[in-house]
Amino acid sequence: MAAELKNTDCGTRGGALLDVYSHIQYPFELVRGEGVHVWDAAGNKYLDFYGGHCVCCLGHSPREVADAIAAQAKELLFYSNLAPMPVREKAADKLIQFAANGFTKVFFCNSGGEANENALKIAIKATGRQKIAAFKGAFHGRTLLALGATDNAKWHGQYAGWVGEVERFEPNTAESLAQIDGQTAAVILEPIQSIGGCTVFEPDYLRALKEACDKHGALLIYDEVQTGMGRTGSPFVSGHWAVLPHMATLAKGLAGGFPIGAVMMTREVADSISPGDIAATFGGGPLAMAAMGATVCCLKKYNLVGHAAEIEHYVRRKFTVSQVTEIRGKGCLLGLVLDREAKPVQQALFKKGIITGLNSNPHLLHLLPPLTIQFEHVDLLHQALIEVLKAA
Ligand SMILES: Cc1ncc(COP(=O)(O)O)c(C=O)c1O
Repeated sequence: MAAELKNTDCGTRGGALLDVYSHIQYPFELVRGEGVHVWDAAGNKYLDFYGGHCVCCLGHSPREVADAIAAQAKELLFYSNLAPMPVREKAADKLIQFAANGFTKVFFCNSGGEANENALKIAIKATGRQKIAAFKGAFHGRTLLALGATDNAKWHGQYAGWVGEVERFEPNTAESLAQIDGQTAAVILEPIQSIGGCTVFEPDYLRALKEACDKHGALLIYDEVQTGMGRTGSPFVSGHWAVLPHMATLAKGLAGGFPIGAVMMTREVADSISPGDIAATFGGGPLAMAAMGATVCCLKKYNLVGHAAEIEHYVRRKFTVSQVTEIRGKGCLLGLVLDREAKPVQQALFKKGIITGLNSNPHLLHLLPPLTIQFEHVDLLHQALIEVLKAA
């Protein structure tokens, strides 16, 4: 074997990355993470209330997930979906059992956008229809069907010839229910619009929406890329409040930080799909499957789903200051609506060693912490926020 490779053996550092994130970049370089903390290159420690944008559900570099990936990498790093593999079969069963909500089949891919792209393709194939409905404020990804469902006129404009017609519904309104008809292939929504301002879909509305979809033979898709894997205090929103959509898409926390995407579906939907209809070379790859299996085990072992609900209750009890005018969201997907612009507050919190996020509501401080966050960390955020708000 060759001598151990060092990073510096493979090139120097210097400007090769395409500049697409510079407008939102954080003012520090991260080099390490452990639990609910990350460290920058200068050795500064940050308490992470953003979880790498909702991905690191078990905290940073969770030991069980890292060990599972390492063990699998040494055993079999990759083989295509043409070869059945126990690690894939077992992980799929584990996910469906964790969901415990009526979904019976799962298709694996590599990202949230890809999961939504495939769910919409499945809906078009299953119904034989073309019309897709999505909501104002929605974010479903950047691939073309997913982009069409995303509510962003600027991004659509550039690809007008490629992004199909999407009917745009207003969340939680009776009028939207009346817009579903015999032409509708799919209605897609995030049960809590995360990037769109932490808008929560009401249980009664979801029930009525499912009924309207069933009445007209349309398929209801929950984009649970952010709300899945226990984040809202139940394993998934799908099946919660007695509403089971026809499909749910997953990514972000699904494998504890390892890249993955998935579409879970009911038996009826699965029956409409034939071999070869959809595929992804790396979907369901052994490393992702090992990581996902370990993630599901950890969520159960440490009771993190129940804990996410407790964190929400604690945050709601704690943040009663007048400058926080509203707390939106559920579980560990929360938005503190401030009486002022959130961006300067976020920047000031960085200086105090706390990472939070922003979203489309300029007054909203976005909290997407690892589900392992503890009450004392909420106390630290509370204390720092009070100081920042007083100083402004
Ligand atoms: C709700 C939702 N759906 C889909 C996506 C797209 O996921 P990805 O960036 O993995 O394609 C995101 C990404 O932030 C998301 O928040």
